[in-house]
Amino acid sequence: MCGIVGCTAQGGEVVAGLVESLKRLEYRGYDSSGIAAQTVQGIGIVRRVGKIRELEAQLQQEPLIASTAIGHTRWATHGRPTEANAHPHRCGKLVVVHNGIIENYLELRQELGASGAVFQSETDTEVVAHLVASLWQGDLAAAVRAAVGRLEGSFALALMHEDTPEVIVAARRDSPLVLGVGEGAHWLASDVAALLPWTRRVIYLEDGDVAELHPTALSVTDMAGKKQHRPVVEISWSAEMAEKGGYAHFMLKEIHEQPTTVANALLGRIAEKSGTITLDGFNIDDDTLRSLRRVSIVACGTSWHAGQVGRFLIEQDAGLPVEVDYASEAIYREPMLGKDDLLIAISQSGETADTRAALRRGREAGAHTLVISNVAGSSMARDAQSVLLTYAGPEIGVASTKAFMGQLTVLSLLALKLGAVRGKLTNGELRRRLHELKLLPHAIEAALHSSDAAKDIAAELAAARDALFIGRGVNYPIALEGALKLKEISYIHAEGYPAGEMKHGPIALIDASMPVIAIATHAATYAVIAGNVEEAKARGARIIALVSQGDDRVAKSAWRTIVLPAVPENLSPLVNIVPLQLLAYWTAVARNADVDQPRNLAKTVTVQ
Ligand code: AGP
Repeated sequence: MCGIVGCTAQGGEVVAGLVESLKRLEYRGYDSSGIAAQTVQGIGIVRRVGKIRELEAQLQQEPLIASTAIGHTRWATHGRPTEANAHPHRCGKLVVVHNGIIENYLELRQELGASGAVFQSETDTEVVAHLVASLWQGDLAAAVRAAVGRLEGSFALALMHEDTPEVIVAARRDSPLVLGVGEGAHWLASDVAALLPWTRRVIYLEDGDVAELHPTALSVTDMAGKKQHRPVVEISWSAEMAEKGGYAHFMLKEIHEQPTTVANALLGRIAEKSGTITLDGFNIDDDTLRSLRRVSIVACGTSWHAGQVGRFLIEQDAGLPVEVDYASEAIYREPMLGKDDLLIAISQSGETADTRAALRRGREAGAHTLVISNVAGSSMARDAQSVLLTYAGPEIGVASTKAFMGQLTVLSLLALKLGAVRGKLTNGELRRRLHELKLLPHAIEAALHSSDAAKDIAAELAAARDALFIGRGVNYPIALEGALKLKEISYIHAEGYPAGEMKHGPIALIDASMPVIAIATHAATYAVIAGNVEEAKARGARIIALVSQGDDRVAKSAWRTIVLPAVPENLSPLVNIVPLQLLAYWTAVARNADVDQPRNLAKTVTVQ
C-alpha cells in the first residue's frame, strides 16, 4: 500500500532524510514516489514514476532545500502509475499526501468542480487538496478537521500550506499513522520502520485523530478539535534491526531469525516448572474461557494458514470447535457470533482492511475478541478486547516468514492455555508440552541447515511451470503456506492440497513436468501420505519430500529429500515450514525475481 512520511525541524535540511524514510516503506509496494518541501521560494514538488532511485536522481537535478517536507510512495488504486497521479497533490498553496481510499471522491470531485476546481490527476486524493483548500482560513488544522468530516473511506493524510511553512497537519482513519518525537524536530510515517533512523520515541495516532506538528511542538485533537492525549512509546526496534543484517535479502534474514522469533514469543510467558502460562494482554478471564462454546478465526493469506494450524491445536488441546474463515468472505455473511464465542483475528500488520472489518463485525455481534499481531500500535490491536503480540520484530520482506512463525508460536501457547483452563490438560501434560516448546528453537535452527539442499533443489524447481504441495492433518496448512510462498515470490503456479484429495482431481495434472512437494515427516498420517507419494511417483512426478531422520520409505520414492529433526507432531508445522520458505526463496533467486518486493504485492493490504 501507499506510504507517507513527513518532517518539520528547527533549521537544517530534511528532504534527504525523508527519502531515506521512504526507502524503509518500499516493502509496502509502490509504483511512484514524490516529495513536497517548504523551500524559500514556496512549496516545491518533485515526483517520479518507478523506484525511489528515480526520485533521488530527479532531486539531484531539482534540489529541494527545506526543513519542513512531506513525502509519499504510491501503490496505484485510482489512476494509473503516472507522474501526474503521483503524490504529493497540490491545490494552490496547499499540498497533501495520502494512504487509503476516499470512497466518495467522485461526488466530491463533481461538487468541487462545480465551484471551479480544476483537477490535474485521476486520483481520489486530489479532491482532499481542493476540499481542504476551499475550507482554509489561515489555520490548516482547522481546515483539515472541517474537511475530513466530508470524507468517506480510509485515510492517513499529511498536509502543508505555504502560509504556515513549519507546520504539518496529519489525520487518520483506518490507515495507520505514527508520529516521531525528537529534540527540535517531529516526524510522521505510515510505519515505525521509517522513523527508526531518526527517533525511537513514537506516538500511534488513533482513528479520528488530527495532529499538528511544529519543530518544537506537537498537538493531537479529535475531529471536533478536542485535545487528545496520546502516549509517547519507546520502540525497542533499533534502525539496524530493520536493515538486512548482512543477508542478501530481508526475507532470508527473516527466515534465519525464526529460532529467535520463537524464543521471543515465549519470553516471559511460560514457567515450565510450575506449568503456568502468562499471556500479557489477554484480558479474558478463566471463567469466560471455560464458558466458551466456539472459536472463530478470521485472517488473510499466510495469517489464514496460521489460523488453520491454530484450529488443529485448539481443537486438540482445548476440545473447542474452531472455524477458520477468510476475512474477505466472513464480512459478507451474518457473523453468527455471540457472547459465548471467541473471535480471533490474526494479522501480522494489524492493518489488513478485510481482517479489521471482520474483527469489528464480530465485536459488534458480542463475541470476545482477540487479535494476534506483530505490531503493538496497530489498528486491530486497538480494536480488540485482547491482544497477543508475536514480538517478531519488523518484517520487511513482503512474503511473511518470521511473523508466521510468531503466529504459530502464540497459537500453540493459546491452545495450551485454553486446554489448561478448561481442564483438558493436566498440569503434568502442560509441563511436558511447555518443555517441548522451549526446545523448539533448536529444531528450527537445525531445519535452517537445509538451506543448501533447498538451494540445490531450487536450481531445478526454477524451471517448473507448476508445482503441487501436499500435506495431511496439522501439516495440510503448511502445504498451503509452502505453495503460497513459492507462487508469491517466484511466480511459479503452485497449489497446496490435502494429500487425501489428490485422487479426486489433482492427480490428473501429474506427470514428469509437475514436481510434487510432499510433507511426509513422522505423523499419525505418515503411512497414508507415503502411499500418496508412491501414487504420484508412479505417474512420473518428481517428488521433493520433507522427511524425518531415519525415514526408510518415502525417501526411497523421492527425487530429492530434505531431512528434518523429529519433533512432536503438533509442533512439526513450525519446523516443516522452514525448508519450504527456503525452497521458495532460492527458487525466486534462481529466477532473478524481486524477492523482497514481489510484483503486484503489497506488504499491507489496507483496502478491501
Ligand atoms: C504473506 O506472505 C502474504 N504477503 C500475504 O498473504 C499476507 O499474509 C496477508 O496479506 C495478510 O497480511 P496480515 O497478516 O498483515 O494481515
